[in-house]
Amino acid sequence: MKIKLGVFFGGNSVEHEVSIITAIQAIENMDKEKYDIIPIYITKQNKMYVGDLVGDIRNYKDINNLISNSTQVTLAPKDDKVALIRCEKKMFENSIYDYIDIAFPIVHGTNVEDGTLQGFLKMFNLPYVGCDVVSSAVGMDKYIFKCLLKENNIPIIDCKCFTMDQYNENPDSITKVVEENIAYPVIVKPVNLGSSVGIKIAKDRRALEEAIADAFGYAKKVLVERAVMNLKEVNCSVLGDYEECEASECEEPVKTDEILSFNDKYISGGKKMGGTKGDNEKSMNAGVLKLPAEISKEMRAKIQELSKKTFKVLGCSGVVRIDYIIDQDTNDVFVNEINTIPGSLSFHLWKATNLKYKDLLDKLINLALKRQREEKNMTFSFDSNILAGYENGFCGTKGKFGK
Ligand SMILES: Nc1ncnc2c1ncn2[C@@H]1O[C@H](COP(=O)(O)OP(=O)(O)O)[C@@H](O)[C@H]1O
Ligand SMILES: [Mg+2]
Repeated sequence: MKIKLGVFFGGNSVEHEVSIITAIQAIENMDKEKYDIIPIYITKQNKMYVGDLVGDIRNYKDINNLISNSTQVTLAPKDDKVALIRCEKKMFENSIYDYIDIAFPIVHGTNVEDGTLQGFLKMFNLPYVGCDVVSSAVGMDKYIFKCLLKENNIPIIDCKCFTMDQYNENPDSITKVVEENIAYPVIVKPVNLGSSVGIKIAKDRRALEEAIADAFGYAKKVLVERAVMNLKEVNCSVLGDYEECEASECEEPVKTDEILSFNDKYISGGKKMGGTKGDNEKSMNAGVLKLPAEISKEMRAKIQELSKKTFKVLGCSGVVRIDYIIDQDTNDVFVNEINTIPGSLSFHLWKATNLKYKDLLDKLINLALKRQREEKNMTFSFDSNILAGYENGFCGTKGKFGK
């Protein structure tokens, strides 16, 4: 029997559209002999839709039309399985739309990729592809991610991080801390966004204040770090789990401005946004790209080693992409960030490593099933009669609950 695979994409994130492209491109490359694929589109209001229109990229030009001709569903445990339940059912219609055996989250950005969707799926005991709740959440917070790497001696660019409340309370003291610890030019980032949204370089105090105000429009926590002006950016993907992982070929995205922009990442290559019918093997991340990256053999090996180490330290699973900044003045290399669900699932980096997209997808699904098998052998609950002893706020010999 075929495995019923629910592919979840979209969601309330600034990278909503990018996720639609990644997901539909992946669906087109999945093995239809093995998998019965159910595309599940999550709107920006977090409503989930299924139906004939949902798996075709052309229908996303008119999302209102897509929604009104699709079926809104939600998940529910049913008969030892997980069912997609119709939110509104017509007369004589079954409330169960279908069942799913395994979920494949293909979402990007805050509110979905950051452990939110993973946690939702975990509540149903549904095996899902990719990083778990903790690695997804830590991977999304640029500051916490840096702290974890630093603790494990993986090179990062040190930063200062502060909340909106701290800044509003005393903006001068924050800018002073930045200026005393980091020399201009600096770069300001919201801690948990992606696609360069809200990121600006500042070369003096006025620009710093403007950049901070701008970044707070996107997140309640902002970080500031040294801006590397003579930099080379290199990305490397890792595939596997806690037991075994391998690193891909390295790529070098090329920017047209001071920082790699949303345009550079997805648009500047012209027609490079893959995923349309008949054009399903173009990577979205190939805006303008050197593949392989123009780096020495030693640098390539170093980046691949750091990538595997970062993957393990974070406890990742599935496929991730780790992005690096090389300071060309010193030849120092720093991990910049991780994408726990990379654009286009980084298939182009694996293609360059001689792994076909279809086989990459197969490996990802198998890793999810492996994790499910391993978790089944663990104990997550034990029977206790603690509630039997609960009376008037007292419980057993452990004393009082509450005050
Ligand atoms: N310390 C830095 N110095 C110089 N440029 C940087 C630095 N950090 C990031 N950038 C530039 O900004 C871009 C976006 O930053 P990044 O941390 O990757 O955030 P995002 O999650 O939005 O991709 C990078 O691709 C790079 O071009
Ligand atoms: Mg980036």
